Amino acid sequence: MCGIVGCVLDKKVAPTILKSIKKLEYRGYDSIGIATVTDTINVKKGQGKIDEVDSKLDFEDMGGNIGIAHVRWATHGNPTKENSHPHCDCNNNISVVHNGIIENYKDLRKELMDEGHQFKSETDTEVIPHLIEKYLDEGLEYLEAVQTTIKRLNGSYALAILNKDMPDTLIGVRNESPLIVGVSDNGNYVASDVPAILNETNKVIYLKDKEIIRLTKDNVEVMNLDLEPIEKEVTKITWSPDRAEKGGYDHFMIKEIYEEPQVIKDTLSEAEKIKDIVGKFKKFNRICFVACGTSYHASLVGEYLIESQTGIPTEVMLASEFDYFQNTIDEDTLIIFITQSGETADTIKALKKIKNKAETLAIVNVVGSTITREADHVIYTRAGPEISVAATKTYISQLVCIYLLVAYLNEDEELIEKLYSISKLSEQLLDNEEHIQEIAKKYKDANNFFYVGRGFNYPTALEGALKLKEITYIHGEGYPAGELKHGPLALLDENIPVVGILPPGPSYNKTFNNLEEIKARGANLILLCANDDTQVDGMGDTLRFNPIIDEELAPLLYIIDLQFLAYYISIERGIDPDKPKNLAKSVTVE
Ligand code: AGP
Repeated sequence: MCGIVGCVLDKKVAPTILKSIKKLEYRGYDSIGIATVTDTINVKKGQGKIDEVDSKLDFEDMGGNIGIAHVRWATHGNPTKENSHPHCDCNNNISVVHNGIIENYKDLRKELMDEGHQFKSETDTEVIPHLIEKYLDEGLEYLEAVQTTIKRLNGSYALAILNKDMPDTLIGVRNESPLIVGVSDNGNYVASDVPAILNETNKVIYLKDKEIIRLTKDNVEVMNLDLEPIEKEVTKITWSPDRAEKGGYDHFMIKEIYEEPQVIKDTLSEAEKIKDIVGKFKKFNRICFVACGTSYHASLVGEYLIESQTGIPTEVMLASEFDYFQNTIDEDTLIIFITQSGETADTIKALKKIKNKAETLAIVNVVGSTITREADHVIYTRAGPEISVAATKTYISQLVCIYLLVAYLNEDEELIEKLYSISKLSEQLLDNEEHIQEIAKKYKDANNFFYVGRGFNYPTALEGALKLKEITYIHGEGYPAGELKHGPLALLDENIPVVGILPPGPSYNKTFNNLEEIKARGANLILLCANDDTQVDGMGDTLRFNPIIDEELAPLLYIIDLQFLAYYISIERGIDPDKPKNLAKSVTVE
């Protein structure tokens, strides 16, 4: 996920475009770049947050009434100045900013390099200005050159494009990445998201996939891929700027939960890379995961999966406890470090300690983060920036990577197919939201919760309880369903709600019996089960799931309802779920 903005105005564009791109910093903060057109294309770009780079480069100083800007969330190539957008063609005539992923960029890059084009970055984006240059050189009109370029791209893209020789025209294109148009009396805009333009105009045109727009200061034209004009409706936005930044949601956390179906899809696009990495592993006879918090819970799902599916002995260590166990690690161990931020001090310290002793793999969301420079292999989760302190979509993307890893370790094609079907099913899950709101109202005043599950879903119970603790300040305890009878049953009464995770599968009957024991002690049950489960009727509140999701895959989906539950209890208690007290998004101290 990156953020792009473009404007054609009746005045100098730099101050406005800088203000606009700052509103998209939530979409990426590795680097920033701006291009404008005067008698040449002017580009200023650098690595770092917008204010840091601006204080060195002074963006507002740039001349020109037309410009494009970009904030980057790195996907291809480290977050360096060279990889920052905008990217230009060989002669600096075409300049492009891009949000998305060009899947066939390697083939295109090779073709263009063979034809003599010179590349300055490692990005997938840079093929775009070079392709436009190629088609202009072959004699096509500008718009046709863009059209021909687009037809050669596979993948997702929102683009804003400048041409030195057409200094009053900005072209934008959208395909599977967001792009909107802003219309005003003083000029026109394109942007990844509404907040970027809301200070300038509230009149917006929403684009569909494969639509092209041509903007001048006074005119907006929308076309299809055959360059035929399309009539579009102008919508008036009534959101406040703060709400707009959250995509119309009240908080980043709920926005990020809603992004989860897309995140599953995006992370599945890493399948081939994960397959390559698995092919490069040295021989190992043991796997060890090291992580903290939510990433630790994802690792536990990994342990259950790997042991049950591949028979490889696997264990999970908390990064902060790693010191006490590291002596058993040897060169036959593969160690997998999971961290969304890539900056967690406990996890990095553990990796640094062990990196020369065993083969290491990092599963991480932030490209170029510290951990990516230390591990032998890196798998990127594709969750995009996560702003809310409580991890939601990054957990889902970690799980997808783990399932893919297990599928390739085990050469299990069936599991890969199941993962693709999960990405569709996840959209249905968002349907339970209203019912969860009612449950949240009912239990908002409880002081303690238990979350119970077995096997693959014991980690789901732990993660559900962690979400509750973090953002509602209610004590939540995750427990293996079979373990309550060995002590905690003594605590239970009608004041302690118990969340039972009860997907269909081999563990069902045992878990069901445990839940009956709990019910018999007077506790109120909230049950996560299949749509066609009639055994649970009358036992408590139910949250229903598609029956084809069995216990092996349930961790990927059942957690979404537990994230909603924590979110709505937090709202009921008047807490800001995005900024829980005492917690930070990235924990850089031991
Ligand atoms: C999750 O909601 C928490 N914010 C926290 O437990 C987090 O998962 C933990 O600090 C590890 O962070 P990491 O994934 O960035 O390493």
